[in-house]
Amino acid sequence: MNKVKVGIVGLGRQGIDQARNIAFRIPNAELMAVNSIIKEEVQEVQQNWGIPYGYTDYNEMLANEELDAIVIISPSPEHCWQIEAALDAGFHVFSEKPLGVSMEECKIAERAVERNEDKVFMLGFMRRYDPSYAYAKQRIQEGSIGKPILVRATSIDPESTIEGAIRFAATSGGLFLDMTVHDIDLARWFLESDVKSLYATGGCYLHEEFEQYGDGDNVAALMHFENGTMAMFHSGRNAPHGYHVETEIVGTHGTLRIGSVPQENQVMIFDNHGARQECVNGFQERFEEAYRLELQEFIDCILEERKPDVSVYDGTKSTEVAYAATESFRENKLMTFKKEVSQSNE
Ligand SMILES: NC(=O)c1ccc[n+]([C@@H]2O[C@H](COP(=O)([O-])OP(=O)(O)OC[C@H]3O[C@@H](n4cnc5c(N)ncnc54)[C@H](O)[C@@H]3O)[C@@H](O)[C@H]2O)c1
Repeated sequence: MNKVKVGIVGLGRQGIDQARNIAFRIPNAELMAVNSIIKEEVQEVQQNWGIPYGYTDYNEMLANEELDAIVIISPSPEHCWQIEAALDAGFHVFSEKPLGVSMEECKIAERAVERNEDKVFMLGFMRRYDPSYAYAKQRIQEGSIGKPILVRATSIDPESTIEGAIRFAATSGGLFLDMTVHDIDLARWFLESDVKSLYATGGCYLHEEFEQYGDGDNVAALMHFENGTMAMFHSGRNAPHGYHVETEIVGTHGTLRIGSVPQENQVMIFDNHGARQECVNGFQERFEEAYRLELQEFIDCILEERKPDVSVYDGTKSTEVAYAATESFRENKLMTFKKEVSQSNE
């Protein structure tokens, strides 16, 4: 196989960008099929880009034997059944985060991955592929900050996209599952441990529309990890200045900070507002390169017959933690995780 032939499901906000990456920016991939329940989206992409196959029915796309891989960028509640169906039909699968919106769904996806272990499965935690986060991980592995003991993470969508966030709230799974889940995955990755206990809080401080979904427009959580390390999270929907993603990893001998000012470029503006820098306005802009690199990694894994760094279990773990944080926020209680008991007699 020289090129991986890909079918994509979902051509919305995120799907159209990833379809473009597969079609034009990943040399060893070919976008052969597109699927959305919205017929006009399918027709438009097919006509504009000359894509041979278009479907409004997902299962019909899975019957196409010319395809090698399925990329899933549909709404979060669709992920797990689509993952299972695609793996069982013999395809390699990439799925957007979160893995699922319930633990039962995540376990279904886990079992599908386990019974199709000859297939590549990758979950879209793209921040791990962002050059700055990848560099931070490399510095930690080289020991340059000593032992990492604390991750402090802030992720806030811009106020300018609030209407979309409110529309999306019914299917997002809530702020912890939709947004903090990226930070939870990064904290597990940097601290090399799993969450032992957590407490979360938050509320609707500016946009009460989120309340009907049991969601907040700003939430925070404090977590304790099995290896004794810590993490602090703040996620929100209303940054006035742009898309603010900032991560700090504090070690015993130093600190790494990524993205303190979400600057758009290197230009400093000195004018009657003071001295300032313009900021990026959305995830598409901030993580453009990471989205391409994660899909490139998925395609390379298929061609080189190896497994990616982000596994289905990372998806289950981060979903479990995000769920517990949501419960803690809603019910004002401390959550603790039981360590999984090994089945062996060791
Ligand atoms: N990694 C990230 O940073 C990031 C950023 C944005 C979105 N996402 C994730 O991507 C996913 C999609 O988000 P979005 O903002 O693009 O959503 P969206 O609502 O804009 O688009 C969803 C698309 O899926 C299609 N669709 C819905 N149900 C379908 C079905 N059963 N079969 C086939 N097509 C179906 C819709 O027609 C639409 O084309 C979500 O899971 C979201 O969490 C991840």
